[in-house]
Amino acid sequence: MPWNPRWFSLCIATYMTLQNGVTSVLPPPCDSPIYCTGDLLKQVQTAKLFNDDKHFVDMGLRESPEQILQTFQKLVEKSPDGKVSRDQLLQFVNLSFTPPGQEFEPWTPQDWHENPKILAKISDGKLRRWATELHALWRNLGRKIKEDVKNHPEFHSQIYVPYPVVVPGGRFREFYYWDSYWVINGLLLSEMQDTVKGMITNFLYLVERYGLIPNGGRIYYLRRSQPPFLTLMMDSYMSKYNDLEFLRSNIHLLEQEYEFWMRNRSVIVSLGGRNYTLNRYHVQVGDPRPESYTDDLELAENLTEAARQELWAELKSAAESGWDFSSRWFVSGSNGHVGTLQDTKTSAVVPVDLNAVLCQTEHLLASFYKMLGNVSKVQEFEAARMSRLNAVQAVFWDETLGIWLDFNLDTKDRNKAFYPTNLAPLWAECITSQSHVEKAVQYLKKSEALSYRNGIPTSLFQSGQQWDFPNAWPPLQHIVIEGLAKSNLSSAQEMAFQLAQNWIRTNFAAYEKYKAMFEKYDVNGDGKPGGGGEYEVQEGFGWTNGVVLQLLDSYGSRLSGTSSVGYSPAAAVLPLLALLLPRRVR
Ligand SMILES: *[C@@H]1O[C@H](CO)[C@@H](O)[C@H](O)[C@H]1NC(C)=O
Ligand SMILES: *[C@@H]1O[C@H](CO)[C@@H](O)[C@H](O)[C@H]1NC(C)=O
Ligand SMILES: *[C@@H]1O[C@H](CO)[C@@H](O)[C@H](O)[C@H]1NC(C)=O
Ligand SMILES: *[C@@H]1O[C@H](CO)[C@@H](O)[C@H](O)[C@H]1NC(C)=O
Ligand SMILES: *[C@@H]1O[C@H](CO)[C@@H](O)[C@H](O)[C@H]1NC(C)=O
Ligand SMILES: *[C@@H]1O[C@H](CO)[C@@H](O)[C@H](O)[C@H]1NC(C)=O
Repeated sequence: MPWNPRWFSLCIATYMTLQNGVTSVLPPPCDSPIYCTGDLLKQVQTAKLFNDDKHFVDMGLRESPEQILQTFQKLVEKSPDGKVSRDQLLQFVNLSFTPPGQEFEPWTPQDWHENPKILAKISDGKLRRWATELHALWRNLGRKIKEDVKNHPEFHSQIYVPYPVVVPGGRFREFYYWDSYWVINGLLLSEMQDTVKGMITNFLYLVERYGLIPNGGRIYYLRRSQPPFLTLMMDSYMSKYNDLEFLRSNIHLLEQEYEFWMRNRSVIVSLGGRNYTLNRYHVQVGDPRPESYTDDLELAENLTEAARQELWAELKSAAESGWDFSSRWFVSGSNGHVGTLQDTKTSAVVPVDLNAVLCQTEHLLASFYKMLGNVSKVQEFEAARMSRLNAVQAVFWDETLGIWLDFNLDTKDRNKAFYPTNLAPLWAECITSQSHVEKAVQYLKKSEALSYRNGIPTSLFQSGQQWDFPNAWPPLQHIVIEGLAKSNLSSAQEMAFQLAQNWIRTNFAAYEKYKAMFEKYDVNGDGKPGGGGEYEVQEGFGWTNGVVLQLLDSYGSRLSGTSSVGYSPAAAVLPLLALLLPRRVR
């Protein structure tokens, strides 16, 4: 083959100097020269044949990868400067690839039945009818992966898993890791034991096969994970079905996933002359994300090669956090975050919520081993939890503000900005002192975040990114509400109910208006879907439905679909705030 100067720049592109001074290669998102790396991907994506870059990388192959690469190479050789024209690319893609979504066959869960007990717990007739419809939606979100994906994986970007899955919906055609936690909690309330057991088995299979659970069910997600909820999923399932045999056969895989986070995602924080081990999101993978290729390429267009690769790795770390994207990951200034998406530096942040989830995981692994009678393992995980509790208290707890805050490794300072995840230790019961519970509840009461009647915003900073103001996301509502409910303070428990009422009213209003459930909502509209970020707001929607069912299960006797009054501790000044806020938000 003739020498192609692009290969040289490609080689250079994959080299960069890491912090330890050793020149080393950042691997691409996966090894596929069609879906993850190389000239074919680059030319097709930069030609923008489709509205969403995810479209192309979700297509299947009509011929073997070798044949397709050969066909493409011929086109390159015939083209001036090796740049294939848009029309030729369209024709090539049309002839060599199949449309997205063909890896699935229709699947209706066999364990679905019409009348789960949760429905009878809901007093308001309108909300009960709505819950009945949400319960029925699981049947639309179920997917079974075709045998061909198992037998011929090289023809697909879909990752094979043995059991059917419930997907989020919209552009998210495959399973997602942390979404599945709230999906599973909803499915359990719908009494779909087999579906849940199958989904958990899929995740265990992924741990065994790949050593981690990928962000979602595509090979371009293989080298990054998402917030680690597997052990919590097992806990949700065990709490309802107490399936000890299932736990016994799989606990080593729960432990293996935990070890991935401890080996590949931990960091030592030195503070006050002591070292603490905590965890962070840290994906050391280069190149643009295949599913958002041109966004990443354009964002980095003016940077040096080393800086581009570094930014792309940081964007993947942000994707691993589940918060893609957010000012929470922008470089830290003296009082919060500064900059724009280009200033994303996720790996410098030690996040409260990730460590709260792992704290909970350590607690659950200890109690699972207790159920299985393995004393030495119980001791091992109780010790791990003790050192986590110490680290969470020493590194995150901010006595002045009376709350846990993300810690920045570069500035050696806490990020004082509001995020719902600042309250995650309440929900994870990762607490060393009852006084922290009281202070954290006070922190929330005083926070501007409570002045919105349509949900708790993701932050108070309007960056244009989707994990920022004015969007409110279902999992974050759940974490705050359940944290308050667990607090044993009656005023906090009442606040939990009021926040649940706000969220139900918002979701229900949007459902009445659009006949749809959305992945996120806007705190500034009564029943308005969220916006911002890289793609249009998506409908479906797995975790939204799961959280609504959970809230209806907890508060079904009190919740109302038509409640017109939004809760706000600052109710007296609410009209004034509503006038001032849009301008105060940057
Ligand atoms: C190829 O083009 C035909 C005709 O325009 C269209 O119907 C078909 O969906 C296209 N196939 C793909 C994979 O885009
Ligand atoms: C995790 O770390 C191990 C050992 O350092 C390494 O071999 C492996 O590739 C890493 N896995 C990922 C997904 O980064
Ligand atoms: C903390 O860790 C650093 C390197 O990771 C080490 O040099 C230092 O001695 C440790 N300090 C303590 C108090 O253990
Ligand atoms: C790169 O520089 C050009 C010229 O100054 C500018 O127009 C463009 O917005 C820059 N791109 C980014 C992503 O900053
Ligand atoms: C506990 O688990 C460890 C590690 O899997 C194993 O070596 C040990 O034999 C187990 N002990 C009991 C009592 O089951
Ligand atoms: C709340 O009370 C229950 C029962 O009294 C107790 O088990 C639990 O630990 C308490 N939770 C907190 C956060 O104090």
